[in-house]
Amino acid sequence: MKILITGGAGFIGSATAKALMDRGDTPILVDNFNDYYDPKLKRDRISKFLKDYKGKFRLYKGDIRDAKFLDRVFKKERPQKVLNLAAMAGVRSSLLDPRLYADVNVMGFINLLEMAVKYKVKNFVYASSSSVYGNNTKVPFAETDPVDTPISPYAASKKANELIAHVYSHIYGLPTTGLRYFTVYGPWGRPDMALFLFTSATFEGRPIDVYNKGKMSRNFTYIDDIVSGTIVALDTLQPYAVMNIGGDKEETLMRFIEVIEECVGKKAKKRMLPIQPGDVPSTVADIRKLRKLGWKPTTRIEQGIKNFVDWYRTYYKA
Ligand SMILES: NC(=O)c1ccc[n+]([C@@H]2O[C@H](COP(=O)([O-])OP(=O)(O)OC[C@H]3O[C@@H](n4cnc5c(N)ncnc54)[C@H](O)[C@@H]3O)[C@@H](O)[C@H]2O)c1
Repeated sequence: MKILITGGAGFIGSATAKALMDRGDTPILVDNFNDYYDPKLKRDRISKFLKDYKGKFRLYKGDIRDAKFLDRVFKKERPQKVLNLAAMAGVRSSLLDPRLYADVNVMGFINLLEMAVKYKVKNFVYASSSSVYGNNTKVPFAETDPVDTPISPYAASKKANELIAHVYSHIYGLPTTGLRYFTVYGPWGRPDMALFLFTSATFEGRPIDVYNKGKMSRNFTYIDDIVSGTIVALDTLQPYAVMNIGGDKEETLMRFIEVIEECVGKKAKKRMLPIQPGDVPSTVADIRKLRKLGWKPTTRIEQGIKNFVDWYRTYYKA
């Protein structure tokens, strides 16, 4: 099966590509290698993390905002399925540059849906986000909860994806599944996310910013669990679906930090700060819908953080 993955040099994209190749699929990776975080990490995911897979995937450097570029890739490759992960992915940075978030996350998304219809793609899976739940106070967050009150341009762009996907499913019969990812972590992870920031600061003895006195809670989700759930979605044709994908244990930020300290072997210096605009105090996933398709998360933070810190230590020679 040929599966086009946008954001293929990203954290989730590269890990999903690897698992797809392990079972014999051919990923077609599209990425613009932008500098939202160090592009060297993106290049290394391709040249080091995927080094044993040379010849089993193809890589196109380009931008999903460029419809002509996408048309050339689709025409040449004729992918049967699409996994759209390319996006500007930072909640806080979306408040600084909301136009960029609308351009990439909404206009780029429409470009891909247009290609999927034109080239008769069989299944279209895309990254939504737990941030669509905004300040929802009912926990756990279920797909049936109202999500009409996003609190960042990023969250609004992901909610827009779900609305626009519905149009394409309804009008053109394109099966679409939006995955609401809950805080993903693991080796080769993103440098702008808490685990990475806390780990590097702890290694280097710098203070870490702990928002809301550490009273944030999350369903941290290990990358391998995200990958297996994403593959279940790719394998399942649903006329229109939106599904949560998150770990099954709610963890406080403080517990998360404790485990990092144990793995690094050093106490973190903590700077307690108030909650930030756009941040959500608690995100807890109701994952029954994806479970019904046979998926379940299996990695606890004790193991997952250890795997991350081991990777970090080697990659950055910490
Ligand atoms: N990691 C998480 O915790 C999390 C949680 C919820 C949702 N998501 C979503 O999952 C998807 C993947 O996230 P990730 O953590 O792997 O992020 P990532 O930033 O590592 O991956 C995204 C990739 O998309 C590429 N990209 C960005 N804009 C592009 C453009 N205009 N054209 C082509 N490529 C472009 C980037 O270069 C990057 O490699 C994103 O859509 C993100 O919003 C992630």
